[in-house]
Amino acid sequence: MTAKQTETTTRKRLFIRTYGCQMNVYDSERMRDLLVPLGYEPADAPDGADLVILNTCHIREKAAEKVYSELGRLKPLKAEKEAAGGRMTVTVAGCVAQAEGAEIQRRAPVVDLVVGPQTYHRLPELIARVHRDRGEALETEFEVEEKFDALAVPKRHVEGYSAFVTVQEGCDKFCSFCVVPYTRGAEYSRPAAQITAEVRALAAQGVREITLLGQNVNAYSGEAPAGDEASGRWGLARLIRHLAMIGGIDRIRFTTSHPNDMDDDLITAFGEEEKLMPYLHLPVQAGSDRILKAMNRKHTAAEYTALIERLRTVRPDIALSGDFIVGFPGEQESDFAATLKLVEETGYASAFSFKYSRRPGTPGAAMGAQVDEAVMAERLARLQALLDSQQQGFNASMVGKRLPVLFEREGRNAGQLGGRSPYLQAVHCDGPKELIGQIAMVEVLSASKNALGARLLRGESCAA
Ligand code: 5AD
Ligand code: SF4
Repeated sequence: MTAKQTETTTRKRLFIRTYGCQMNVYDSERMRDLLVPLGYEPADAPDGADLVILNTCHIREKAAEKVYSELGRLKPLKAEKEAAGGRMTVTVAGCVAQAEGAEIQRRAPVVDLVVGPQTYHRLPELIARVHRDRGEALETEFEVEEKFDALAVPKRHVEGYSAFVTVQEGCDKFCSFCVVPYTRGAEYSRPAAQITAEVRALAAQGVREITLLGQNVNAYSGEAPAGDEASGRWGLARLIRHLAMIGGIDRIRFTTSHPNDMDDDLITAFGEEEKLMPYLHLPVQAGSDRILKAMNRKHTAAEYTALIERLRTVRPDIALSGDFIVGFPGEQESDFAATLKLVEETGYASAFSFKYSRRPGTPGAAMGAQVDEAVMAERLARLQALLDSQQQGFNASMVGKRLPVLFEREGRNAGQLGGRSPYLQAVHCDGPKELIGQIAMVEVLSASKNALGARLLRGESCAA
């Protein structure tokens, strides 16, 4: 059967549930793009689906446990489908799949297939194998080589005007609390030409904003495009400057960065490249040098704050975001106080903070002096109160200002639009639907912790 013939077979329902980071959101979209040409139609609920994919996250214990609860809920749905003469193929993808492998099927026999993040391109073939093992006719047979080639510059189906583009995967940093180097593997950067082709195709579909993704995105070091071999490999700043020349792309962002990979070129780019938005997610995790050392972060609190100062020198309005872990093994009240101090000094526009979660196989899990759950909860509450007040303060500082907003969707109320400021704040504003997909100037009228209210400024142009 040829790929063309496959298109004509009955469409099957595909349900994907995504947990965790933006990389998983991107991966889920890629899996969908891979499966739709093979006769699958995206569904918005697992009920009655022929193929269910749970794209999982293993970063904290709670995230991993959610997957098993969901598998429990799928069991009766799968039985119902079978009682009606159909089949539901349950697939676990993502980092739980990578970390737990066959153990998942032992714990949850409802699972038919387990596939880690490095093997998504083989998904159609693996699904076909499940069908074959059940003795079913292979309706999804396809030309493997053709699909492999298509992956190099993926045909993407995008919704909206802002898209993620994975440029780098994996991590070689081995922070002692983190599973990512084990679940996502070693650092790998996609060649610059491949990324450029993908962004060009997105721009042609109307995308105005791209967010470059990577577990360690600023460690990007990709093969230079043909014609520029002399430069060897490109760093992230070089890639951003190149992508900024693509017509139609007006905003560029990237996430997530490590402080040790913020090189001079990237810092300079924040001051020079207008399309690079003034927002940076730069996790520090903790403010105590003793804890940073135990975390294997390989930088001190002072080095981090010096970096922030340099960024603010080139781009004074840059909005900062971070990740924090409270209760890493051995964390004393004085260490936690150093985290609060660093937060006070830095001033964050937004941040994520978590209680330390002991992950099997990481060095942190074997450390003594694990911190009591109640102590962690109390510290997290104090940290989040401070971060929340900074976020509220940052948003409040926008009231009365004029900002360019990329409108992405209709708002909740009739006649309302929703978009994003350069600082990644959600903005609500009355305006015509025709503005969706456009960047327009607004005046900020009000601010809450999570959003800005604004009015449209007619006739004012804006660069970004
Ligand atoms: N416990 C708590 N938080 C963690 N993170 C990563 N591993 C753990 C863990 N074991 C947090 C870090 C990281 C973010 C993505 O998740 O803050 O930056
Ligand atoms: Fe995990 Fe980030 Fe540390 Fe890598 S740099 S090990 S992804 S926390």
